[in-house]
Amino acid sequence: MDTVSVKKHMATDFQVTEAIKVLRTNLFFSGNDKRVVALTSYQASEGKSTLALQLAASIAETGKRVVLVDADLRKSALASRLRYRGKPVGLSHYLSGMANADEMLCETDVKGFYMVFSGARVPNPAELLGASSFDKLIAALRDTFDYVIVDAAPLGQVIDAAIIAPKLDGVIMVINAADNSYKNEQRIKHQLERSGGKILGVILNRVNLSELEGYYSKNHYSYD
Ligand SMILES: Nc1ncnc2c1ncn2[C@@H]1O[C@H](COP(=O)(O)OP(=O)(O)O)[C@@H](O)[C@H]1O
Ligand SMILES: [Mg+2]
Repeated sequence: MDTVSVKKHMATDFQVTEAIKVLRTNLFFSGNDKRVVALTSYQASEGKSTLALQLAASIAETGKRVVLVDADLRKSALASRLRYRGKPVGLSHYLSGMANADEMLCETDVKGFYMVFSGARVPNPAELLGASSFDKLIAALRDTFDYVIVDAAPLGQVIDAAIIAPKLDGVIMVINAADNSYKNEQRIKHQLERSGGKILGVILNRVNLSELEGYYSKNHYSYD
């Protein structure tokens, strides 16, 4: 099994690591039936892959076994971001019957943290994710791992996240605090719900903390 180095990509900033711990705690308190969870957003670059990676590593730090699945088959980012140079076998190979689960599973330098990369580009991602082989994979990962974190494609652009949502325990919506629209967020929320997906919560990412501190202290003082 190939080993991927993720430690050097972990956030070191105190506020970020604290925020990830809060996210992890909220997920743990969502219950034992919320172990297979996807992150999606309306558009690209809202922070899904970054948060999925940090969250998965943070879960592993508590001694649990976790696998991060890169299911953004259209703009897969994790293999290149982690500078993975191992065998280029991933989810798309498995879903099209070209690899088995063991072949695409990679271990990382964080104990208990495993990765499934997206694999080669395919012309039919939605079809592959909708097929029963994806259900089978999720069932197998659910048996092997305490948590399965799925990095999904942006739902404002492609339907993939709504296709996989009902196959999982829940979905977390990532919203870029600096660039979003109520209408678009509502649209993907309804789309997820219509597909039978359960929205566990929302992460407001890229909040300007210096502005927030001012806001908080203002509130705080007016509270006194
Ligand atoms: N909270 C944040 N603060 C600053 N940069 C961020 C934050 N979240 C994500 N980024 C950066 O934004 C870019 C896009 O993030 P990424 O996680 O790849 O988004 P997505 O998976 O939603 O397309 C990356 O370069 C990432 O490092
Ligand atoms: Mg991404």
